[in-house]
Amino acid sequence: MNKGTAFTQEERESLGLEGLLPTAVETLDRQVERALGHLSAKPSDIERFIYLQELSNSNQTLFFATVMSDPARFVPIVYDPTIADACLTYGHIYRQPQGMYLNRHMKGRFEEVLRNWPVKEVRFICVSSGGRILGLGDIGANGAPIPIGKLQLYTACAGVPPEGLLPIHLDIGTTNAALRADALYTGLREEPPEPGEVDAIVDAFMKAANAVFPGVCVHFEDWKGDDAIRLLARYKDKYLVYNDDIQGTASVALAGIVTALQIKGETLADQRILFAGAGSAGIGIAGMIVEAMRGEGLGEAEARKRITLFDIGGLIEKGRKDLNASQKPYAHEGKPTEDLTEAVKQIRPTILIGVSTVGGLFTEAVVKAMAKTCERPVIFPLSNPTDKAECTPEQAYEWTQGKALVACGVQFPDVTLEGKTFHPGQANNFYIFPAIGLAVYATKPKRIDDAMFIAAAHATADQVSQADRDKGMLFPRQNDILETERTTATRVAESIFERGLATVKRPADIRAFIESLSYTPEY
Ligand code: NAI
Repeated sequence: MNKGTAFTQEERESLGLEGLLPTAVETLDRQVERALGHLSAKPSDIERFIYLQELSNSNQTLFFATVMSDPARFVPIVYDPTIADACLTYGHIYRQPQGMYLNRHMKGRFEEVLRNWPVKEVRFICVSSGGRILGLGDIGANGAPIPIGKLQLYTACAGVPPEGLLPIHLDIGTTNAALRADALYTGLREEPPEPGEVDAIVDAFMKAANAVFPGVCVHFEDWKGDDAIRLLARYKDKYLVYNDDIQGTASVALAGIVTALQIKGETLADQRILFAGAGSAGIGIAGMIVEAMRGEGLGEAEARKRITLFDIGGLIEKGRKDLNASQKPYAHEGKPTEDLTEAVKQIRPTILIGVSTVGGLFTEAVVKAMAKTCERPVIFPLSNPTDKAECTPEQAYEWTQGKALVACGVQFPDVTLEGKTFHPGQANNFYIFPAIGLAVYATKPKRIDDAMFIAAAHATADQVSQADRDKGMLFPRQNDILETERTTATRVAESIFERGLATVKRPADIRAFIESLSYTPEY
């Protein structure tokens, strides 16, 4: 409710604010101008992050007006990559609470504790245990900024109204001994319990969240890989939930693939896809590609045949004895090899996806072997941070004479090769989850399914202009993100209405309906 210097004279009189504010009555635009000045004067992005979070606590409207004035500049500060620094130092830069902090010892009392939140109509909870934050591993309570930043992007990128958004850090303990020993650490100084107890804690949390906030959508974020996969499977048919690391990641990767295939004039069914890395990201992306191929008319087994995995133990083929249940469906007949170049020669992929966490894994030999059998190779080195990328876009363009279609997990600078400038795309989940949020906000579906993420992927791909495709861009521009996400949300909402999953009446004009609900920062 705060307006700072924008409180009118009448408001100042009626609210007893006279004398407590400077004389000038300012507009929101003038306040944004001042905030931008402060931000420019800060020496580093982490200082800008701290300033913006303080602003979000003191004047939410001004915070969103500032961030939304230039999303391409501020989203990387409110969220990845700057938020990684904020997480590493959270206990030290902590100023005041944001959202809620629950811990495992409240297990029997989650309902009572959640009722302490002053807003009664919560529509979204983003919850993290801090078990696997970005590329930082288990950082426990230092992961608290993640659900806060993630929900801020719902509003900043898609206009989801901020009042009903609740970030929660669910503290189950941390394996990070260095943090537990840090005097300024703000979380439980305990090891996490075994998976059965984690499930019992989260079961209690889900039950309480749905009792206190009926119809709430719970977004799981940055849980340890095994926990993430298990909990999503546990709740997806029971509650309104999704996991952005699994479904959002898969959707944005699919969006990049769809754009690349539109450029090549090919279908998904035409592809041979090789994954370097068969962890939670790889399995999640592979699963969504299978679903998308099924949407193009392929059977499940046929779709899986087009996907091959390669992990730390080499090519995943029928003879491997160390595969887990999620990898086994992708184990085909093949010659065992631990050499990625050999695997590329054997599989002859048209799409190569790096989710291995191994920087430099896509060597010149790997990329050249791929280019030998594929005219325009699609190469996605998605691992991050930057030093973990399997190759740089520059390398991919250079080793394929500019033929490769490239998307990375982080934003790399433009590359100029033989007079042509390429703008490598960033497979950033922020193209997807805020739009999913807005569509869910508008249509109130009972469940969230993969088809919604596939619709989001296609909608995202369709918004890349021809001029941008010519520069090698596989994702829409980031400066018009609000417009892009509203369009994506509209397509997702259409899919929800068409499949009879909405619990609200279908409006005559879905786009106008979505726009009428979306938030604009104004007093
Ligand atoms: P994970 O730890 O679950 O899986 C890593 C996989 O890589 C394992 O299957 C492992 O066997 C394999 N691997 C390790 N060394 C290898 C080697 N030398 N050759 C081939 N495979 C090898 O990790 P997760 O969660 O699947 O994430 C993987 C990477 O993907 C991370 O760097 C993460 O930052 C990135 N990622 C990117 C996203 C994006 O761009 N939007 C979203 C999610 C993850």
